[in-house]
Amino acid sequence: MKVKVHRKAHFNAAHRLFNPDWDDRKNQEVFGKCSNPNYHGHNYELIVAVEGEIDAETGFVMDMKILRKLISTKIEEKLDHKNLNIEVEEFKNLNPTAENIAVIIWNILRKDIGKKLKLEVTLYETPRNYVVYSGQ
Ligand code: NI
Repeated sequence: MKVKVHRKAHFNAAHRLFNPDWDDRKNQEVFGKCSNPNYHGHNYELIVAVEGEIDAETGFVMDMKILRKLISTKIEEKLDHKNLNIEVEEFKNLNPTAENIAVIIWNILRKDIGKKLKLEVTLYETPRNYVVYSGQ
């Protein structure tokens, strides 16, 4: 019997979507306002889902205290109130789109979540735009 548990989290961050191989016009054309050279912010909503068997002893799929702490120390402290392009190593040479941010978050959390558990990261960049990554 598999159950999926979810933890919601939140961070604010600034970014600029930009391809250094393109000129300003092409960047503006593809990324629009998100390519503003002076950066802009988003209120990111993060949902981390962990799926697996219910542990017979605890009745948990995963201890949510541990998941909460993992998200807080590994993700929120790393990304909250940061300029993603400038201050976050992973985005020095990687466009900080919602897709790429979700993949980075998944890669970080995967290391600390038991191998028997499935991990899925959902990231809302706006209330209407969100991406889902589950490691494929
Ligand atoms: Ni943006």
